[in-house]
Amino acid sequence: MALNRRNFLAGLSLLAASSALRKGFEFEDFHSLKALYKDDFLFGNIITGKQLEKSSGPELELLEREFNALTMENDMKWQLVHPAPEVWHFDPVNRFMDFCDRHGHQAIGHVLVWHSQTPSWVFETEQGKPIGRQQLLDRMKGHIQTLAGHCKGRLYAWDVVNEAIEDNGTFRKSAWYQQIGADFIAEAFRTAHEADPSAQLLYNDYNMHIPAKRRAVVALIRSLKAQGIPIHGVGMQGHIGLDYPDLNEFEKSIKAFANEGVKIHISEIDIDVLPNPYRSAEISTRLNYAPWKDPYREGLPPAVSDEQADRGEALFKVLLNHKESIERVSFWGLADGMSWKNNFPIRGRVNYPLLWGRNFEEKEILRRLRALKSQ
Ligand code: G3I
Repeated sequence: MALNRRNFLAGLSLLAASSALRKGFEFEDFHSLKALYKDDFLFGNIITGKQLEKSSGPELELLEREFNALTMENDMKWQLVHPAPEVWHFDPVNRFMDFCDRHGHQAIGHVLVWHSQTPSWVFETEQGKPIGRQQLLDRMKGHIQTLAGHCKGRLYAWDVVNEAIEDNGTFRKSAWYQQIGADFIAEAFRTAHEADPSAQLLYNDYNMHIPAKRRAVVALIRSLKAQGIPIHGVGMQGHIGLDYPDLNEFEKSIKAFANEGVKIHISEIDIDVLPNPYRSAEISTRLNYAPWKDPYREGLPPAVSDEQADRGEALFKVLLNHKESIERVSFWGLADGMSWKNNFPIRGRVNYPLLWGRNFEEKEILRRLRALKSQ
């Protein structure tokens, strides 16, 4: 009896060890997103300055294990990296580039010129008046030269200009546009190329499935190319929901941009599962909280989790159909609790837009994206 029990326990532990080994082996070699999709496109995610201060932990482990491209979520934005005229915070940027070098990630710079998260001093004289075209151009170019110059040769790509076109296809009436004119975009690309000739230069925006926006981005690419200004790619952000956008329209945009000879980066995917009357990623939007708009505080119902997985799978089928044109596909966050979507466009909701749950448990959508390539 005692012998039997010993044998039984020994057998169990052997089984456990071999299954752990097998799991580890399979995981390393076949099961990570970056391995599964290695013949298709880079598989990316984001990292924060705070995460980079840690030496270990589940976030870093997942980022190392699953992904081969990384973008800094916030720390390269003007407000953080260059908060005052003579102040530069390069430490997080350096940690980011070192981390990417160490772990074999392609590093994506985000972002050189954006209407948001740019301090007001950039646009004003000391008296608080608009600074005017020439001086603003000088400030923009100076910022790009210093930041892109600092990172020279170490980044795979830069989001040079972010969100400069409205959903209706007109230029956003940002301070950049109002004080400089539409050519701030050309000047930004020209300067970025001078500062770091080896980085791919991208125009990045949300709601790229909208036909008017698609046409405007195509026109922008043509205009830059006609002036001999390098634009190598388009970042289609991909902040989507369960029932928007129409993936046929999203696909039409992939084709339209690829036809212009630029690479596609799907740069910021998340899949919102909450009721959302507002279908955009304009960060200044704030709507009021109401309990009915926050229905899954106690957990994501399996049916909704399946719906999200279906949506993710449908999106990735489109992306795989266009893998020749797609350079990178990045999610905008790792685990649900970390997403900006918990506070946008309504603060304090419990959202589930990412691949891992709040305790880093694998979600159905993640299993489905792995299964899509394991068949
Ligand atoms: O770190 C401060 C914290 O100290 C402070 O207590 C707190 C109070 O609000 O704010 C914290 O900073 C916030 C920061 O995220 C870090 O969490 C900012 O308020 C908040 O505005 C900022 O939001 C970021 C947003 O861009 C604006 O920069 C999101 O994290 C980031 O995910 C989001 O990313 C953008 C892309 O850059 C461009 N495309 C759309 C995408 C989603 O909006």
